[in-house]
Parts: sequence; structure tokens; C-alpha cells
Amino acid sequence: MRGNDRPLDGVHLKRPRYRLVDGFRLPRGFPARAFRSALHYAPMAGDVFVATYPKCGTTWVQYIVYLLANRGRALPSGANLGQVFPHLEEVGAEAAEALSSPRLIKTHLPCSLMPFSAAAKYVYVARNPFDCAVSFYHHTRGFPQHYDFATGAFDIFFECFIAGEVDFGDYFDNLLPWHALRDSSNVLFLTYEDLRRDPAGRIAGIGRFLGGPAAAAAADADCLAAVVEESSFGRMHRDQARWSSQRPAGMPPFVRKGIVGDWRSTFSVEQARRLAAKFDERTRGKDAASLWPDILAGARSG
Ligand code: PPS
Repeated sequence: MRGNDRPLDGVHLKRPRYRLVDGFRLPRGFPARAFRSALHYAPMAGDVFVATYPKCGTTWVQYIVYLLANRGRALPSGANLGQVFPHLEEVGAEAAEALSSPRLIKTHLPCSLMPFSAAAKYVYVARNPFDCAVSFYHHTRGFPQHYDFATGAFDIFFECFIAGEVDFGDYFDNLLPWHALRDSSNVLFLTYEDLRRDPAGRIAGIGRFLGGPAAAAAADADCLAAVVEESSFGRMHRDQARWSSQRPAGMPPFVRKGIVGDWRSTFSVEQARRLAAKFDERTRGKDAASLWPDILAGARSG
């Protein structure tokens, strides 16, 4: 873990910039109209949502779902995942309605704003808040057109993150209600760390949860192996333009490190203790308190 006293010289101290729509923080590139219409999207039978707090494995699981629905065949060259699996709050309800069925939809909406339907399926991916915060920091630096934070310091971003004052709101406000829904028959709750530990096992589980052609793909050993390979970190790291085409040169790539526990190289001891204390406070008395026990123990002890 780095020292507490890292100087901030040479980096600016202002916070990232966001767009506030009806009290909800969004990236500035997201039209208010699209966000508002997203809240009224009416899911149809067969819809598959990949729901996450930002930087928790969204793109990875989106691509797994896409591959399972397409028998392990990679996206055609030149295609972008966002075209076939759009972000609801960015494109709005009409664009989602125009997708062919089954509609594949990405969202970072908290449960309180989420369009729910018993006929749709929701794959929720959670990631420990420490790695999430570091990944979110690099993301925020990497889109200066949205955040104006290219040279921003982690220490500044950390204060925004722990206060819940970042785009898509507070980490815990997103995680906890989704975790409470984890036993619903149309919700699959996964963690980034479990998927990293056992990709084939978890991908097979996603296939079984989705049913239909995705279940058949997951049950076929060759197909499952193709999905595991195509969605591996190495492949996705190689094919950056498929996930994000807007990052200026010199910025960390969108598929960046994919390492569990890499937060230690960025957090100070004090920051780790503060975020662990917030985790303990927000999860007290809830089953979510038992998520990531080793990471939390390490953060508490410094
Ligand atoms: S976003 O902007 O919210 O959609 O970002 P999201 O896709 O949720 O999170 C990005 C992080 O996921 C990592 N990633 C992967 N890890 C392992 N395997 C694969 N295939 C993979 N694809 C993306 C990506 O590197 C980001 O994490 P960090 O820690 O920044 O590397």
C-alpha cells in the first residue's frame, strides 16, 4: 500500500464534473432526456439486463451474455458492443425498444430507479469497493470530455467515491438493494472476484440462468470453451475498440488490469480503513456483510 503522504504537486485538486439530472449524477455525455425516458422503459419477456455499479465487471459480463446468445461467436470485426448491448440511461427507452428480441441491455441504475418486470432477467455483478474505486478513478480520468479530470488525483476522487458523489450515485446504495434481491428467480447475483476465480463455472451458471439458446451453448463443452476464451482478459484487452472508442491517447485502456486486489498499490492505509469502516457501517446486520471477507480484513488491518 502506498504511503499516506503522497504529494499532490503537479495534479489538479478540483473534483470531476458531472451532470445532475433530477438529483442523480450522470456523465456529462448522457442526455437528460435519455435518462428520464430510461426510467420508464417497459421490459418485455426475454429482455436480459446486465446491471452493475460502474467498474464492477459490466463489459465483461455483457460480452459473456452476448457470446452465450451467439454460440461463442465473437462480435464481427468493426462492431462495438454498445451497438448490440446499449446502455439504457445513455440511449433512452426508444433505442432499447428498437432492439431485436432478446433485447440485451446494460444499466447502472440502482434498484430504486430500475424498470423491473418478472418477465425479464437481471444479471447483477458486484465487485469489492476498493478495486471498484481505483478502476472508477482511471475511468474518470480517461474521459476528459465527460469529467474534465484527466490529471485529477486519486485522493480527490476517493473523497467523491466514499461520499457517494460520483456518477450513478453511491456504491452501497446500488449494491445493497440488488444483493437483497439475489434469491429472486429472475435475478442472478455474481461477483467479479468469483468470475475471475472460476470463469468456466460462472459462465455455465449464467447460461443456465438465461435458459434457451444460452443454456444450450453453456452445456456444449466446445461452445463454453469458446465463450471462456473470447471473454478472457487477454482477448478483451487486445480488442479495446470493441468496448470503448472514445479514450484519448495516453489514458489507461478501458479493459485495464483486471486484477483482484490491485487497489493496494493506490490506496493509503487510512483510505483503506475509512472505506472498510463505511462498508461495515452500511452492511451491518445484512447478509452483504459477508461479501469479500479477506479483502475487508486486509483493508481493516492496513
Ligand atoms: S463500466 O464503464 O462501468 O462499464 O466498466 P466495467 O466494464 O464495469 O468495469 C471495467 C473493469 O472490468 C475489467 N475487465 C475485465 N476483467 C477481467 N476480465 C475481463 N475480460 C475484463 N474486461 C473488463 C476492466 O479491466 C476494468 O477493471 P480494472 O480494475 O480497471 O482493470
